[in-house]
Amino acid sequence: MNILVLGSGGREHALAWAIMQNPKCDRLICAPGNAGMAAIAECADIDILDGSAVSTFCEETAIDFVVIGPEAPLAAGVADRLRAAGILCFGPSAAAARLEASKAFTKEICDAVGAPTAAWAQFDTVEDARRYITKIGLPLVIKADGLAAGKGVVIPETLDIALDAVKSTFGNYGAAGQSVVIEEFMEGEEASFFVLVDGVTCLPIGTAQDHKRVGDGDTGPNTGGMGAYSPAPVLTDAIAQAALDQIIRPTMAEMARRGTPYQGVLYAGLMIKDGQARLVEYNARFGDPECQVLMMRLGAQALDLMLACAEGRLDQMAVNWADDHALTVVMAATGYPGSYRKGSIIRGTESCPEDSAHMVFHAGTTARGGALLATGGRVLNVTARGATLQEARDRAYGMVDQIDWPEGFCRRDIGWRAL
Ligand code: AMP
Ligand code: GLY
Repeated sequence: MNILVLGSGGREHALAWAIMQNPKCDRLICAPGNAGMAAIAECADIDILDGSAVSTFCEETAIDFVVIGPEAPLAAGVADRLRAAGILCFGPSAAAARLEASKAFTKEICDAVGAPTAAWAQFDTVEDARRYITKIGLPLVIKADGLAAGKGVVIPETLDIALDAVKSTFGNYGAAGQSVVIEEFMEGEEASFFVLVDGVTCLPIGTAQDHKRVGDGDTGPNTGGMGAYSPAPVLTDAIAQAALDQIIRPTMAEMARRGTPYQGVLYAGLMIKDGQARLVEYNARFGDPECQVLMMRLGAQALDLMLACAEGRLDQMAVNWADDHALTVVMAATGYPGSYRKGSIIRGTESCPEDSAHMVFHAGTTARGGALLATGGRVLNVTARGATLQEARDRAYGMVDQIDWPEGFCRRDIGWRAL
């Protein structure tokens, strides 16, 4: 079959890599793609936020299946548009993707089904939000009610910071800042749980933990993620089962009951304390870089699972688990997550092994005149698999050490919490 992957990050390179290994894939196109994807598939320059442009491209190119990587095309209704045109697609409708796009919507659904999550309140004016914060005091969490590219959350250290954060949250995120959600601060350890949902059946496909802070020892500003590993030992089978029974299945059933069934991968961010999980947030997509470790573990079966998800056949599927571990180290441009220089040359990736246990997934890269250039903040995701997490980690850092990129950096402690 002919398959189109939408996106240009490490997540989409990993999806493309897994899909390419499955003999069902005859032709793979990535849009817009990056240098890593260009090495294994064709790349097409289409506006992935424009549902009719994507749909027309699919008809002209005889695409049989579309896999949507990032959240923006989901929120823009690209999956709806494709399904209306009769094109098979992996990814939720815009209505179902509200589970990521609106914090208040998710909280309201959780309350409706009694799913454990932080207590919350929503405010439409700065004054009301400030009055509430002054009344309840710290600790608390302030969130813009919408997509804010992972930047709309403040965990204030003082009351003054909290009161200022309310004002900037309303001002900074455009439509996302029209209201704020104020939540109880939950203590515990965070982990991510990935579940395929076909509207009815929920099939877990793995757990992971990422490292959000830029510096070793979890220091410095937050980023999109500096590394990840799977499985997450804190998310034991018992806790995962309880999260499925108490949080994920009830919320998915409620989405279906409301006429907006969820179809795609559901990424549940969980806070775990004393053997109990509570929901931090839902995302309507794979995490990046969590997807890289999941794809390394799932390999070619990822395509069969995504197809079954899109076709409503998940009840017939089982994941073929290996007793393995995967770990990815993000290499980023110096300065990230602040400003960084684009265009530096990366050498040495060609000397890294590429097989079912080693892969350098590309994020912000461009190939020019035979050279590999860094053209983004997060640039390479050096990913490895092993019988133990330690083995996966040693393999990943072994590859990192072969890459010659003086303008880049990475954390040296990915996986520390689990090791
Ligand atoms: P979100 O965008 O909702 O995932 O929030 C980003 C990050 O903020 C999460 O990954 C958590 O680390 C933290 N966070 C969000 N909500 C809470 C909460 N209620 N309690 C503690 N930490 C939170
Ligand atoms: N790595 C976190 C995310 O994809 O949201």
